[in-house]
Amino acid sequence: MKDKYSREIDYLRISVTDRCNLRCIYCMPEKGIDTVPHKDVLSFEEIARVVQASALVGVKKIRLTGGEPLIRKGISLLISKIKLMPEIDDLALTTNGTNFAEQAEKLKHAGLKRVNFSLDSLQKDRFQYITRGGNLNKVLEAIEAALLLDLKPVKINTVLIRGFNDDEIIQIANLSIEKPLHIRFIELMPIGTSQAWASGRFIPAQEVKDIIEINLGRLEKIQKPKGNGPAHYYRLNGASGTIGFIPAISEHFCRNCNRLRLTSTGGLRPCLYSEDEIDIRTALRGGASLKELSEIIVSSVQNKPIRHSATGPGDDRSMMYQIGG
Ligand code: GTP
Ligand code: 5AD
Ligand code: SF4
Repeated sequence: MKDKYSREIDYLRISVTDRCNLRCIYCMPEKGIDTVPHKDVLSFEEIARVVQASALVGVKKIRLTGGEPLIRKGISLLISKIKLMPEIDDLALTTNGTNFAEQAEKLKHAGLKRVNFSLDSLQKDRFQYITRGGNLNKVLEAIEAALLLDLKPVKINTVLIRGFNDDEIIQIANLSIEKPLHIRFIELMPIGTSQAWASGRFIPAQEVKDIIEINLGRLEKIQKPKGNGPAHYYRLNGASGTIGFIPAISEHFCRNCNRLRLTSTGGLRPCLYSEDEIDIRTALRGGASLKELSEIIVSSVQNKPIRHSATGPGDDRSMMYQIGG
């Protein structure tokens, strides 16, 4: 379906929970979050119905996110429901990896096609500090499991934070030489808990690219690996993987934006930064037909702004873990 600026919207990102088993310093408050009452969260049947309705109006790509999607019990069941929909040709997951290895085979078997992992440090103690308690080994095991199961392309999300992990750019970039991994350096966004904190810690993508080229050689621009996101991709000489940049702040990729978001409580959001949320849960629970649901989806797409403002939204429903990254 097209929005009013002629952008083709065919990608739905679904946050299946806003809970997380980690507390990354740029994403969640240390004390955790107020939990949403269980009854407010969409069931898998309800999510699957929204996917079906969205497929009627042209959605072809689904990504499950959170919070941390793998802490929602039985997530493979949702994946297997979506797998049965012939219109959906890409079914991916974004996870912190902590609970991935033990579920990997089940997820693959259910129909998961590919996975993106968050990984902000290769140092055990620092990883634990940034995630407030995460276990680096579990994430490294998860990445190996995804490679072994051919959940390709396997992508890594690294949010760079000045003074925290910018001294690891080279080591993290090196992973793309050693393994067929697609490393994406993400600009820290002033959103959620990092709104005030982020500005002095922001590192522009161009600076990161320069550091890599000075130390590891030329980055050759390449076609993007399978995916629907805004990253630009490059390859180091002889590398099996690639290096991507997600210039969330320094470049407006909004003109090519292809996505719509569904929050765990059934809010449709046309933009990561938009507070313009439409409730689809009431219609779902009121017995709306697929056609009626698809009309609600189209109306959300029609509200898609031409671009986001450089600063984050101010409302308290706009944390990254609520909107789904
Ligand atoms: P693929 O390219 O399909 O693999 O996915 P992706 O890169 O869209 O997915 P992922 O969930 O791994 O998102 C990576 C990062 O991109 C997120 O953490 C955000 O930082 C950023 N991002 C994703 N969607 C948006 C968006 O709509 N706007 C902005 N500004 N940033 C986004
Ligand atoms: N800026 C940039 N990326 C963020 N993420 C979470 N919060 C932020 C932020 N403020 C990233 C996570 C994860 C992805 C889904 O979102 O690191 O990789
Ligand atoms: Fe959890 Fe992801 Fe937020 Fe970290 S960035 S606290 S892993 S939702």
